[in-house]
Amino acid sequence: MARHDRYPKRTRKFEIPSQEQEFSEDFIREQIRIAAERTPSRYHTGEPCGKPGTVNDAFASEVYKYMMDHCNPNNVDGHMFLGSYELERESMVMTAQLLGLQGEEVRKSTGFFLSGGTESTNQAIWTFRNKFYSQKGIDVRKEGFLGMARAGVTPKILAPIDSHFSMEKGTDIFGLGTDSVAFYGLDQDYSTDLDDLAKRLEQEYRQGNELMINWVVVGDTVKGKLHDVKAITEVVSELSEKYDKPVPPTVIDAAGQYLFLSLMKDSDKYGGDIPSWNFEVPEVSAVICDAHKNQIPYGTGMVIFRDARDTLFTNFATDYLSTDMLDGVSSLSEDEIVLAQVLATIPTSRGGYGPAATWAYYMKYGMEGMREKKEHIWEVTKGFRDSVEASTDYELVYEPQTANVVFRLNPEIFDPELNQVVYRNINNSEEHGFYIGHDCGGLARSLEERKMQGSQNYVLYANIMDHNSTDSMNTLMQVLNVEAERLKR
Ligand SMILES: Cc1ncc(COP(=O)(O)O)c(C=O)c1O
Repeated sequence: MARHDRYPKRTRKFEIPSQEQEFSEDFIREQIRIAAERTPSRYHTGEPCGKPGTVNDAFASEVYKYMMDHCNPNNVDGHMFLGSYELERESMVMTAQLLGLQGEEVRKSTGFFLSGGTESTNQAIWTFRNKFYSQKGIDVRKEGFLGMARAGVTPKILAPIDSHFSMEKGTDIFGLGTDSVAFYGLDQDYSTDLDDLAKRLEQEYRQGNELMINWVVVGDTVKGKLHDVKAITEVVSELSEKYDKPVPPTVIDAAGQYLFLSLMKDSDKYGGDIPSWNFEVPEVSAVICDAHKNQIPYGTGMVIFRDARDTLFTNFATDYLSTDMLDGVSSLSEDEIVLAQVLATIPTSRGGYGPAATWAYYMKYGMEGMREKKEHIWEVTKGFRDSVEASTDYELVYEPQTANVVFRLNPEIFDPELNQVVYRNINNSEEHGFYIGHDCGGLARSLEERKMQGSQNYVLYANIMDHNSTDSMNTLMQVLNVEAERLKR
């Protein structure tokens, strides 16, 4: 019996009813109630510990819904939805400052709220693809693939093997092809292997290729590992100079951990070292951060660009929106009008609920309040890390740096194949609702190893989020121990 066999059942409907069949609101509400029960994320129990989400902050949800009920804002139009648009701009500025921009730099930066990490990733790839070709005198927006071919150069995205797959998705969508990614490996500690990175880049440069983006993931999905962005950009800049190539823009995917890192860097409870990773590194041109991985309702990602002018590479003019009001009747400032006219985002309509909820969350908790929340997460993370280490049946795979604890069955006692059994048994148990993560290539340090994806590279992980507590993680450890005991029998 699978876990979901216990969920309440409903008869699924696939046709819009005709007038005679009309259903009452009560019937519909009941159907929705059952659907929610069939979606038992159970955040209140503290049991889900795999990607992707956490419990929403009640106040942020209230604001999200308030905006829905009162003005249904669409931030594509800063004139018609002025108040909501202003909240977006203010949230962006607050986030830009969190990410290391100051004073005049903040004014020159911009960004957008998008639906999440994947859309922000695509927005960044689109932007820097167009900029790359524009610098070669080619308007790729007009010429498309033919223009790309005419440029006569193979563009590459240099990236670590633990990049989120949305980056490869972006190379597909924007016609670069997944082969355009030059992956480099990780060292013994699963940090960036700078020698491999240099080797890979030299190989590309020697073949006459050019770097379109230096892609760096800070706090990757499974390990939550940090990478030294300053050291990476130094190697990339040095080699670009050596081979007489333009220094590429660096894009940071910090979708999962931007808030944790921004706040924990000033916490005495962290104890570790957080290497430079954000706009403080001059080569960093854009940062991807997801508010919806931090108690804000879904559909709330952000991409922030250091230089607002970069968004002109994806700008489309339109005739039907009131953001083109340059005749002085707009309530927006000059700067804001220019920005509002930049309909540069992949989506056109953009709901204003996420930005309002983000604004409310930042304002309600402030730096200290949000830091306390992350300190709590860190305490729970360390506690779980210690219990994995203390267990003889499991081993810790990496030293956690953010909120992820990666582990597996002790290979001296168990066949590595059995890790998948643990994953399935935990995530499908009827005795509890725990949900943990797994990665088939979690132990890989090179692309070749990653491709093997066999049981030898298989890991389990817990991603600790706001809904988890020390008690719930202790129970998870007990549940894991029971599974290990079962396997011994
Ligand atoms: C590092 C990283 N980047 C990007 C994404 C994609 O984000 P989304 O699911 O919001 O599209 C994720 C999702 O977990 C992630 O961990």
